[in-house]
Amino acid sequence: MTKQVKSRERVTEHGEVFTAEREVNAMLDLVKQETERVDSRFLEPACGDGNFVAEILRRKLEAAKKRAIPPKKKKPLPLEFEKQSVIAVASIYGVDLLLDNVIACRERLYEIWNAEYEAICKKEVSEDCREAVRFILSRNIVCGNALSLKTVDENGNDTDEPIVFSEWAFVMGTKMQRKDFRFDKLLAGDYEPKADGKQKKKKVPEEEYGQMQMFSPAEDKPSDEGELLTTYITDYRRVQDYGN
Ligand SMILES: C[S@@+](CC[C@H](N)C(=O)[O-])C[C@H]1O[C@@H](n2cnc3c(N)ncnc32)[C@H](O)[C@@H]1O
Repeated sequence: MTKQVKSRERVTEHGEVFTAEREVNAMLDLVKQETERVDSRFLEPACGDGNFVAEILRRKLEAAKKRAIPPKKKKPLPLEFEKQSVIAVASIYGVDLLLDNVIACRERLYEIWNAEYEAICKKEVSEDCREAVRFILSRNIVCGNALSLKTVDENGNDTDEPIVFSEWAFVMGTKMQRKDFRFDKLLAGDYEPKADGKQKKKKVPEEEYGQMQMFSPAEDKPSDEGELLTTYITDYRRVQDYGN
């Protein structure tokens, strides 16, 4: 069994007690169907080193394998699995205050993805795709404060920068679209699209502000509800070439 506590100091200062595997699975089973969908979005606002998001990724990769099997065949097609597995990674988001946890979480998710990638794609693995997945993880697993919704510095102190998340989606076959949104605006849901494609401010009841579930499948339509900052479209293996 993995250790649930790293140090007394970290428990006192950051409430850092990791959830055991049995509880992780029991909780995820409450939303089992969503965890077994390749593209369902999950966000964990205090992800630690990734106990929940790691298991979500494992489940999604199983689903990705099934989706990559052509009719009347038994084995997944490598290229199709590659694309499905990128979507699986790209639909998982996390925030944590502590940089060492964030780095560990990104690395853990990468290792889980890469192990399946190698097992399915064998000689067809691509270094570009590996770099793309590393880049996506660097954007999706954020060092930030889930209460103030700001990014934090290496000491865990808030900066002036809002947390920004990217929405990733395949468009036109092998092109990947990245849309960046401020997390605070997504949560407030205070923007709505107008018919002309622009966005206008929406009135949100007071009690809805600041509501954030500890752990929940994120809504599947952030692009309709947040303030869009930037859009990039590129080959899915080259997402690392645009923006930071
Ligand atoms: C109780 S641990 C849980 C970790 C993981 N979710 C798990 O269940 O194993 C809490 C985590 O929340 C992080 N944390 C505490 N306050 C936070 C905040 N305001 N914003 C983001 N992360 C926070 C801590 O650094 C720690 O990694």
